[in-house]
Order: sequence, then C-alpha cells, then structure tokens
Amino acid sequence: MSAQDEQPLKVCSHVIFALQETRRYKVISVDNHHNSSPKALERVAQIARDNLPANASEKDKDSAEIDAQTADLTKRDEIKKVFEKYGKGGIWGVIHIAAYKAVGESTEIPLTYYENNVSATVYLLQTASEFDCTRIVYSSSATVYGTPPTIPIPETTRLEAHSPYGKTKIMCETIISDLCSAEPKRWRGLSLRYFNPGGAHPSGLIGEAPIGRPGNLFPLLGAIAVGAQPNTLKVFGNDYPTPDGTCVRDYLHVLDLARGHLLALDALAPESKVFDNATSDARYKAYNLGKGKGLSVLQIIEAMRKATGFEFKYEIVGRRRGDVPDLTADPTLAEKELGFKAKEDLDTMCRDLWNWQTKNPKGYDA
Ligand code: WQD
Repeated sequence: MSAQDEQPLKVCSHVIFALQETRRYKVISVDNHHNSSPKALERVAQIARDNLPANASEKDKDSAEIDAQTADLTKRDEIKKVFEKYGKGGIWGVIHIAAYKAVGESTEIPLTYYENNVSATVYLLQTASEFDCTRIVYSSSATVYGTPPTIPIPETTRLEAHSPYGKTKIMCETIISDLCSAEPKRWRGLSLRYFNPGGAHPSGLIGEAPIGRPGNLFPLLGAIAVGAQPNTLKVFGNDYPTPDGTCVRDYLHVLDLARGHLLALDALAPESKVFDNATSDARYKAYNLGKGKGLSVLQIIEAMRKATGFEFKYEIVGRRRGDVPDLTADPTLAEKELGFKAKEDLDTMCRDLWNWQTKNPKGYDA
C-alpha cells in the first residue's frame, strides 16, 4: 500500500485502519514520505493496538503492527527491495493509492504526473508480477468521468478526462485491465473510483493533514474554522446548472471509503464470486465508491458552520479550471457486488473532521 500525496495519505491511513480492524491482514505500508508524515502510521498502529481484545493471539497482535517501508515507486530498485524482503508469493496483494492528485497542478507539470502516477504503476505491477503478487486494488477517481452525460453516474459511462491527472487515472485503469486480460489465470484487479472523501476517524488520531493551504473544500473549511487558515473562502462559481448554482459532489466518509477497499481486497480472493458474470476472461472490474447523494458547495459550508459554530466568510468568484457541475455516483454496482454501503451521513463527516481538526490544529506535527 502506498501514498504519495496528502489525500491518499489520509485515505491510506484509514485504509490501513480498515484492514487492521479485521485482523485478517498484515499491512506493509510503502511511502516515499514526499508529502506525508510517518507519524500517521504510528497513530494507526496505536488505534489497532488499542482495539485488540484482552485475549488477543500473537497473530492478532502482529496484525496491529505495520511494516512501514520507505520507497519511491518511480525507482524500480526501491520497489524490488520491498518485495525481496517477503520473497516470491510472500505478499498477497497490493492496494495502490500512491498518486499526485491536484487537477490544476497536473496541467502545469504533466510529465511529473505521468511519471509519478503512470510509470510508477507500471514498475509496481512489473515487480509485483516478478514476485507472484498478482492481486491489485487500484485507487481511481470520479475524475475519469470528465463531464458525465448522466447523473447519477454508472460505471458504464464513457471515460474522458479534462486534465493530465484524470488521464493518468484512465491510463492506469487501462494498464491494469490489459494486464488482467493478458494473464487471466494469474492477475485479478479492481479499480475503485473515489468520489469525494471527507471526515476523519472518530478517535481524532488520524485525518487529513495537507502541507500548506488545503486545496480541497472539506479540509479547507476545517482549517479555516480552527484558525489555521484565514477566514476567507472563494466559492468557485455559482452559475452552474445546479440547484443553488454551485458545484455538486458526492461526499462520503473516508472510513466508508476505506472499508470499501477491504471489501475489494476480499473480492480478489480465489473463492470470490465477483468475477462470475464477467463479460470476458479478464478478472478485472471498476466500481464507484460514493453515496449516490449530491451536495453543493454552499450546503457543505452550511453543514460545517453547524458542526463548528464558525461563521465562514466567502466570496463568489469565477469557475475553477477543470471543475464540472456535478459528480454524483450511482453506487449500486459496488453495493450489489461488493456489499459496499457508504453509511455515514454529512453531519457525522463534519463532526469527525472537526474533532480531528481541533485535536490536531497543526496536523501531525503538533
Ligand atoms: C469540491 C468543490 C470546487 C475549494 C477532488 C480531488 C480530486 C478527486 C475528486 C481523488 C468543487 C469547490 C473547492 C475551494 C471551492 N479525488 N471549492 N472553493 O474538485 O471534486 O476533486 O475529489 O481522486 O483529485 O481534488 O474536490 O474539494 O477540490 O472541490 O468552491 O476553495 O468545492 O469548485 O466544486 P474536487 P474539491
């Protein structure tokens, strides 16, 4: 499992929590710490230790310990070292979350995005294959839908991307799909198309800790309310064809998103039925991870005002490049085939984010 940007680190630490919650997986975390604090992993392990039953077996206790490895996925030799430690067949599967993910930034430094998001994925897959690790859950994104023709968005929607970031996600989905087609007896892969994760683990021990001013709406509101950022907010456009004119997104609790990864990993097991009705030999599928409920920017601001008691000041400005009016998932395929259900509501997301924010006003470097 790997993370190379703040949001994936937030997602990554919560995915590790979800895996450790079952005590069925031993987690190896691979991260270059380009933009993330190793402290997050220490805290996740602490949550797992605190949740161990009094009569925990040695195996249970071991599942609470993370093998934290530092490696950059753009360096083949660094990836190889991780796999060599466990030998052929020693690693059961990979959850690949490492990516740069800022839509606007990707239009300014496309080669960095193609190297870090696409080349690194090829190197990871090549090395994993060499070590007979042939199961992958890939962190994709709703961004692959571009401006979707229908709302809510089913997985059958044609893919299009308006930014190099979105194109890297489509490319990696295609690479994994082609690999599973080429080697249907060996490889199994699932892509998870994230909608908009928000919130934090209710303990307040792990959460989003962007370096500098957060680019995403939810963490920015949290940072403003706690005083880590000035009380100024730009709402990027209110002239969209939406109920209140501001963009609509499908926000789901990061813990729901994380537990979706566990279901996906389990679905790669030999006894899984998820590929039974596959339309080809390839053991590959893509699923939306969302709630199927769209909320506007102004609705999120109001929900965070209610949760924090903070009076946000905002200014309506022009549209942000790359934004689309509405990204709301049709979540029924993941619900039917993976048993996925995003159950936490908006108030819980806001409350858990605020709990994290107030306990960690300076992120992990308090
Ligand atoms: C949400 C809405 C903005 C900030 C994110 C990730 C992307 C992908 C999908 C992972 C938009 C508006 C925001 C602000 C604003 N995730 N906004 N003022 O753009 O949907 O994309 O989730 O793959 O990588 O970036 O999320 O939180 O940036 O924006 O008005 O200061 O809030 O215009 O409509 P987005 P976001």
